[in-house]
Amino acid sequence: MSWLFVVHIFMVMTSSSSISFALGRPSNETDKLSLLAFKSKISDDPLGILNSWNDSLHFCRWQAITCGRRHRRVTMLDLDSCELKGQISPHVGNLSFLRTLNLQNNSFEGEIPPQIGALFRLQVLRLQNNSLSGEIPVNISLCSNLWYLGLGSNNLTGKLPNGMGYLSKLQVLNLRFNDFVGKIPSSFGNLSSLEMVTMESNKFHGNIPNSLGQLEGLTYLALGLNNLNGTIPSSLYNLSSIQLFSVHTNQLVGSLPPDLGHTLPNLEALYFHSNHFTGRIPISISNASKLYRLFKFQLTT
Ligand SMILES: *[C@@H]1O[C@H](CO)[C@@H](O)[C@H](O)[C@H]1NC(C)=O
Ligand SMILES: *[C@@H]1O[C@H](CO)[C@@H](O)[C@H](O)[C@H]1NC(C)=O
Ligand SMILES: *[C@@H]1O[C@H](CO)[C@@H](O)[C@H](O)[C@H]1NC(C)=O
Ligand SMILES: *[C@@H]1O[C@H](CO)[C@@H](O)[C@H](O)[C@H]1NC(C)=O
Ligand SMILES: *[C@@H]1O[C@H](CO)[C@@H](O)[C@H](O)[C@H]1NC(C)=O
Ligand SMILES: *[C@@H]1O[C@H](CO)[C@@H](O)[C@H](O)[C@H]1NC(C)=O
Ligand SMILES: *[C@@H]1O[C@H](CO)[C@@H](O)[C@H](O)[C@H]1NC(C)=O
Ligand SMILES: *[C@@H]1O[C@H](CO)[C@@H](O)[C@H](O)[C@H]1NC(C)=O
Ligand SMILES: *[C@@H]1O[C@H](CO)[C@@H](O)[C@H](O)[C@H]1NC(C)=O
Ligand SMILES: *[C@@H]1O[C@H](CO)[C@@H](O)[C@H](O)[C@H]1NC(C)=O
Ligand SMILES: *[C@@H]1O[C@H](CO)[C@@H](O)[C@H](O)[C@H]1NC(C)=O
Repeated sequence: MSWLFVVHIFMVMTSSSSISFALGRPSNETDKLSLLAFKSKISDDPLGILNSWNDSLHFCRWQAITCGRRHRRVTMLDLDSCELKGQISPHVGNLSFLRTLNLQNNSFEGEIPPQIGALFRLQVLRLQNNSLSGEIPVNISLCSNLWYLGLGSNNLTGKLPNGMGYLSKLQVLNLRFNDFVGKIPSSFGNLSSLEMVTMESNKFHGNIPNSLGQLEGLTYLALGLNNLNGTIPSSLYNLSSIQLFSVHTNQLVGSLPPDLGHTLPNLEALYFHSNHFTGRIPISISNASKLYRLFKFQLTT
């Protein structure tokens, strides 16, 4: 018997024993029950997307569902732009193998169920462009594998949970066009993987936290259309990877540092208008060679 053949037998044995282990647990039924509970909270499905969610097919073959090959557990629920209306059932929290939940661009209303915090494998949560209300559940901070969090264009309110600073893998954070209040938590400075942040068009007030200057991978920072005041922390002008820097339409004061064009060499767009900035546009900006959009500053002196 060749060594390769032995290895092959070994692999067959380990994979079949883990399959029977997986099937031996009641969890596959839980996924099915959770999906049916999810369906029961949908009040309108004009495209008939969820018609296939019935007993004639195994749930892994239902439309919008992806299962893992080995465990036959739901890993992705993708209902992007399906014209669905309804609420998000708390039973989604039982889809414990879920890695992607995409409900963006529908008409989901009501709150984001706090049971979402049970989805510790969740990497991508896309809920933007719905009619969700209420606050971000505090235990979203338990979704420690999230790298994409999209909650923009909803009717979400309240303060941001401080614990969001624990989402250490977060790369994209979209909170724009909501009714969030309170300060930008300084714990956001701990989100060391962040590349894109958009929080524009909310009711955030207070200062931009100095800690945001720790986010060295930041390329896109959009904080416009809020009630932010104070000065822009000088640490932000050290984020050399920044391409878009937008703070327009706030109550910010101060002036731009003279060496801006050198410290932000990758700048493509700078939106600083409709604040209370003073002074001149620094000449060094002519060295930010990628800059193509410099929205008017409205300097007051
Ligand atoms: C769950 O596993 C059991 C036992 O292996 C199997 O008989 C049943 O068909 C499975 N149910 C689903 C919904 O996959
Ligand atoms: C159940 O799903 C199958 C497969 O998609 C579909 O052909 C059938 O029409 C569905 N049954 C009902 C009652 O919707
Ligand atoms: C949102 O869904 C509508 C149909 O409901 C579609 O026309 C539109 O392109 C979608 N937008 C995005 C960004 O997917
Ligand atoms: C699933 O979630 C719901 C609501 O959070 C809960 O009531 C239920 O007991 C959970 N477990 C199963 C196996 O469905
Ligand atoms: C938001 O979703 C609605 C459908 O619910 C769609 O008509 C609209 O185009 C979407 N907007 C964006 C920016 O995707
Ligand atoms: C999340 O918060 C709710 C209450 O807001 C709680 O019932 C639930 O057990 C928490 N944890 C998880 C993992 O869902
Ligand atoms: C938010 O609610 C208001 C009414 O309270 C409504 O006019 C608006 O369209 C809603 N926005 C979204 C994104 O659902
Ligand atoms: C994040 O940083 C703050 C200081 O900005 C610190 O006090 C906190 O313990 C850190 N950790 C988290 C998860 O917020
Ligand atoms: C910013 O506004 C808050 C009220 O939102 C106020 O308490 C604070 O003094 C202001 N800070 C500055 C530096 O203007
Ligand atoms: C910006 O970076 C320079 C050079 O690395 C450093 O000397 C300076 O202290 C930094 N400034 C801030 C406000 O972080
Ligand atoms: C642009 O950068 C070059 C080389 O680093 C330097 O010699 C020049 O003075 C800079 N121009 C301005 C306007 O800062």
